[in-house]
Amino acid sequence: MAGINIKSVTKHFGAVQVLNDIDLTIERGEFVVFLGGSGCGKSTLLRMIAGLESITRGEIWIGGRRVDQLPPGERGVSMVFQSYALYPHMTVRDNMSFGLRNIKTPKAEIDKRIEAAAKILEMPHLLDRKPSALSGGQRQRVAIGRAIVREPDVFLFDEPLSNLDAGLRTRTRVELAQLHERLGATMVFVTHDQVEAMTLADRIVLMNNKKIEQVATPVEIYTRPATRYVAQFVGSPGMNFVAVANVEETGGFATAVLPDGSRIKTSIPLNGVAGSELTLGIRPEYLVATAPEQGDISGTVETVERLGDRSLVHVRLKDGSKIIGTDPGMSTISAGTPIAFVVDGRKLTIFDQNDVAHHAVN
Ligand SMILES: Nc1ncnc2c1ncn2[C@@H]1O[C@H](COP(=O)(O)OP(=O)(O)OP(=O)(O)O)[C@@H](O)[C@H]1O
Ligand SMILES: [Mg+2]
Repeated sequence: MAGINIKSVTKHFGAVQVLNDIDLTIERGEFVVFLGGSGCGKSTLLRMIAGLESITRGEIWIGGRRVDQLPPGERGVSMVFQSYALYPHMTVRDNMSFGLRNIKTPKAEIDKRIEAAAKILEMPHLLDRKPSALSGGQRQRVAIGRAIVREPDVFLFDEPLSNLDAGLRTRTRVELAQLHERLGATMVFVTHDQVEAMTLADRIVLMNNKKIEQVATPVEIYTRPATRYVAQFVGSPGMNFVAVANVEETGGFATAVLPDGSRIKTSIPLNGVAGSELTLGIRPEYLVATAPEQGDISGTVETVERLGDRSLVHVRLKDGSKIIGTDPGMSTISAGTPIAFVVDGRKLTIFDQNDVAHHAVN
């Protein structure tokens, strides 16, 4: 087990900069997820930790040792990729032991580690099969097993679940969380799937535009996003953004006045949010459908999506913008009718002209 320190790391591919001055500390035993849109540099950052990619500037430390000039094999890391790349002609056991045999680990030691890894991954019965006789999820488990037997200080995963179908993906995700509990190892996991990030991470590193946008626990990322980019990246459906005409003060807190004149009281201190081009951020779950004229925001229903446990109500406001709110259970609201939403003012965020978030006081 080892922590990781990334200090002022920059990466260029030729003339193109892909990461700019990244600073990040990952604690021993922590499960950290790199989350962000395609091309934001998640894999590149992970591969630089692994030593599969050079760094242009900065330093990388693992377990108190500077590693950025060391070859991958000397960094104490094991990496698991999206494509599990098993050797088809070898059994599971041989696939798992291959790396250890290469570095001349004694056979008794190899056998011991494989038995232990197979037990952790619940696949002792699969050890003598070839990869062609395994399901996708089982193959991915073999790839994880191959990483486990090396007993690395740090596990690095690059979208290891994205080739699996939805059900298997969920099960393997749970297995991975349990594996982390059992091994207590430091794990860094790359994904663009917010659900994986929210469920697996101790902390999420949200990346955008060559930089880290926010590093925080999943709860914090969801409830107190630092910027509008973070706010729109997590949550499904995403946060609603409503234009604010101006703000008024109510007992020190901001009341947002919308273009149609409706007033929404918040628990956000007015101090600091003044300015033009303000946007109100409201998660769909804090917009609850009610009879017209009884809520805080009103409009016309465009679509109702009945998901079973709740329904998503798509509404067009008078100024033409659209928002999505909720109605519990199988909604009986129908498209084309007028509707209003009650807004939970304690759960709102105001974004300023720089897209920086202002939150309610706790
Ligand atoms: N070998 C390379 N040469 C030139 N540019 C590269 C190279 N590898 C990656 N890039 C560029 O660096 C940027 C970051 O790529 P990276 O693979 O790290 O993104 P990512 O966040 O992992 O995206 P995805 O979610 O699509 O896997 C991209 O713009 C990509 O085109
Ligand atoms: Mg990638």
